[in-house]
Amino acid sequence: MLLLEREIDRFFVDHQSQLLSHHPGLSAHTLKRELLWFYNLQGFNFDRKNIFDRLLAGEPLAYIVGYRFFYDAFFKVNSNTLIPRPETEIMVAHLLERFGKVASLSFADIGTGSGALGLSIAMNLQKCQAHLSDICPKALNVAKENYFRLGQHFTHEQEIQFHLSDRLDFEAGTFDFIVTNPPYIKALADRDQVHEQVLQNEPALALFLPDHEYSQWFTQLFSQVANKLKPSGYFLMEGHEAHLDELVTLMGSLDKFKDIRVIPDLTGRSRFIEGIKNG
Ligand SMILES: C[S@@+](CC[C@H](N)C(=O)[O-])C[C@H]1O[C@@H](n2cnc3c(N)ncnc32)[C@H](O)[C@@H]1O
Repeated sequence: MLLLEREIDRFFVDHQSQLLSHHPGLSAHTLKRELLWFYNLQGFNFDRKNIFDRLLAGEPLAYIVGYRFFYDAFFKVNSNTLIPRPETEIMVAHLLERFGKVASLSFADIGTGSGALGLSIAMNLQKCQAHLSDICPKALNVAKENYFRLGQHFTHEQEIQFHLSDRLDFEAGTFDFIVTNPPYIKALADRDQVHEQVLQNEPALALFLPDHEYSQWFTQLFSQVANKLKPSGYFLMEGHEAHLDELVTLMGSLDKFKDIRVIPDLTGRSRFIEGIKNG
């Protein structure tokens, strides 16, 4: 193990500038921690040359090791799923603070991807019916696999259903809350702000919406949310800093929600929208 640690250090020092330009936020410490963990998982199958080559080519570490830690657990990820981001964990914490002590709840996670968001919430509620949807069958399969892999975190009181669906276009009654981290980057207007590594590796379906369909896409989402929330039900969504105000106005114009507001992330940047369905 010591030999491997030294090799990883050496690799990082020798290729520091290339690694840092490809992998925003990567440190020698993170690389060592993730690769030693992966080594423990793989044993003799650990192919250091292949891993180092893929890192130098810019492939995200999470896709190479196949997992990303999110909130309470390791979630399997692959090129069909977004790599769950730390800021999304804020939504889990926020919802658990609000609903963690409620005896029984029904909720939906739209665009579940790896399932990291919906499954992390469900495993921390006492009793729930969780409905996880995605329009991408391959992503939904990863969410299902994560549910079965993480079986030890769930009891029979936490029921999970998966829906291959466009947003909320599935039958499951009404919900106490709905959460989503949808695709929210405008494909043309925002493209320059997206890191090359994300553009090259993460699924476009998870990231982008066509600029000319943006408002219409969210109008339909908010209308579905209004139809599927119980009276006084709660909605929480992650979004793009530059477009949240426009989406708050759009949501307000439907006349179905109250207390709509933008919530910042831990760095103070506008990041989420919350709203309550009219009672
Ligand atoms: C930003 S990713 C979020 C993934 C995961 N919830 C997370 O936070 O890491 C958006 C997800 O929405 C899915 N998606 C895109 N368009 C959708 C649609 N119309 N209906 C349902 N899911 C959609 C994508 O396949 C992707 O998995």
